[in-house]
Amino acid sequence: MSTTISVQCTAKLNLTLAILGLLADGYHKLDTLYQSVNLDDTVFFTFDTNNSQIGFVESGNDVPSEFPLDQNNLIIKAINLYKLEVEAARNIGVQVRISKQIPIGGGLAGGSSNAAAALYAMNTYFENALTTAELRHLAAKLGSDIPFCLHGGCARGTNRGENLEPMPHATVMHFLLSKPRDLSISTPAMYKAFDQHAEVLQKRPDTQAACQALEEMNLKKLAEHMGNDFEPVVFSLHPQLKLVCDDMLDNSALAAHLSGSGPTLFGLFKNELDAQIARASLEAKFPQNQNWVCQSSQYGVVSLDLVK
Ligand code: C5P
Repeated sequence: MSTTISVQCTAKLNLTLAILGLLADGYHKLDTLYQSVNLDDTVFFTFDTNNSQIGFVESGNDVPSEFPLDQNNLIIKAINLYKLEVEAARNIGVQVRISKQIPIGGGLAGGSSNAAAALYAMNTYFENALTTAELRHLAAKLGSDIPFCLHGGCARGTNRGENLEPMPHATVMHFLLSKPRDLSISTPAMYKAFDQHAEVLQKRPDTQAACQALEEMNLKKLAEHMGNDFEPVVFSLHPQLKLVCDDMLDNSALAAHLSGSGPTLFGLFKNELDAQIARASLEAKFPQNQNWVCQSSQYGVVSLDLVK
């Protein structure tokens, strides 16, 4: 018998991302304010009790060629990790199909979000064999952003980013996202470049103040405390990215920054109309960029249906 579970999973932005030093395990100590946005992928998991194979089935044109369809894919790693943890899951076969909107290597946690979808689908199929805390622990083993992708909404992330302090969904925020089509950035490479540059960081983000501003629903104040410590190093390697931020600021963005280690840039706007006007400006000046007008989302992963 086969059962399909469809899961929608969202992209994330880092409203703040402060890099505070090195941890004993070599990872970087972060203080970041994550925010989910309604740019999402849909992942379909078909469970088969007659075989124990795990793999992808043919996906449509909306899957980019650089998306790995082998054991290196975080979805496959997530399924395998779940199988190791939950004995009842050992012999299940899982076929995966994906419809992708979140760009790959964009700083939007697309891969992490897909992995979160896989953990969620497995745990749904196996009737919550793991508690929320256990699933989050498994997610942290797979990647620093994955616990947030499971949780979704808005949360402060500390340590590697996996320690979460949820923030209330205070208000709907409007964003414009922009990514050069032909540029992807490797996160480990950017952490290395960050360590080597060691230049004096001037305007640092302030996550505590940003959280306070969100609680007060004060977007202007939030904008003042946003920022990303990767910006000096990423903008010096890819100066065209800063021009995109500048253009958003010229078009009434309250703030414009890099998400994660980039290369996606995002602006925070007072309303959707302002974001659409700024998008038109980007389309005229940066035709090589892909742009999305998005809203903050309360969700990380959502089950769309359960078809038997
Ligand atoms: O945790 P994740 O697998 O997403 O991290 C990818 C890479 O990014 C790590 O191997 C590490 O090099 C770097 N990283 C880091 N500090 C963090 C998160 C990630 O150095 N807090």
